Amino acid sequence: MRKPIIAGNWKMFKTVGESLAFVSEVKGKAEAAGVESVICAPFTNLPALVEAVKGTTLKVGAQNLHFEDSGAYTGEISGVMLKDLGVEYVIIGHSERRAYFAETDETVNKKVHAAFKHGLTPIVCVGEKLEEREAGQTKSVCKVQTEAAFAGLSAEQAAKVVIAYEPIWAIGTGKSSTAADAQDVIGYIRELVAGLYGAETAAAVRIQYGGSVKPSNIAEYMQQPDIDGALVGGASLEPASYIDLIKGAE
Ligand code: G3P
Repeated sequence: MRKPIIAGNWKMFKTVGESLAFVSEVKGKAEAAGVESVICAPFTNLPALVEAVKGTTLKVGAQNLHFEDSGAYTGEISGVMLKDLGVEYVIIGHSERRAYFAETDETVNKKVHAAFKHGLTPIVCVGEKLEEREAGQTKSVCKVQTEAAFAGLSAEQAAKVVIAYEPIWAIGTGKSSTAADAQDVIGYIRELVAGLYGAETAAAVRIQYGGSVKPSNIAEYMQQPDIDGALVGGASLEPASYIDLIKGAE
């Protein structure tokens, strides 16, 4: 069975000191045997966080990586470097990276391959813009993004991918997708994976919903048969709220 995964995406928030204070608050409380609990923090906080979560079940993720291992890429961080720190997860293709940093379906795919090359678990984000939703293109957008992200992966790798379906209009807006709508799209994404790799792989892939998830609505999403957790921005920043998200996902 798929183990639910709640990942906090801290985006460009928190200093090292604030990260450590967060971990000491949530230690032992944001840990549930049945839920994988991940914090995806800014690069600068990763070494301290990896150290701080030792001896807990909390896991640490990055929010991006470069697809090359090394080279003249000023300002970039590679999978080699993340692995070296002890980071386990990496968010790839978040809509903010697609919108503000020229991330494309092609770079997303290269980054997914780079993550696997270095033993990192990719959390691949897909999702439609408001105008695409209004034009009835939600599923076709998700199809293109999902198929591009999975290109060239073996079935064994595909089964380990975490997909985050994040409708862009729901991110940071307080306008979350209804649980039924999220289930509809996420069920469709699982069918896409089944079409590419077969039913067994599709049944293993974990698919999160993301977009204005909070302690008060997490349970509705978790009740849906194909939703395996959430990628959470704003509500993952406060220790009490993060603890409640993990409890709500149990
Ligand atoms: O990656 C998480 C995200 O973009 C959703 O953000 O603040 O709506 O939970 P938020």
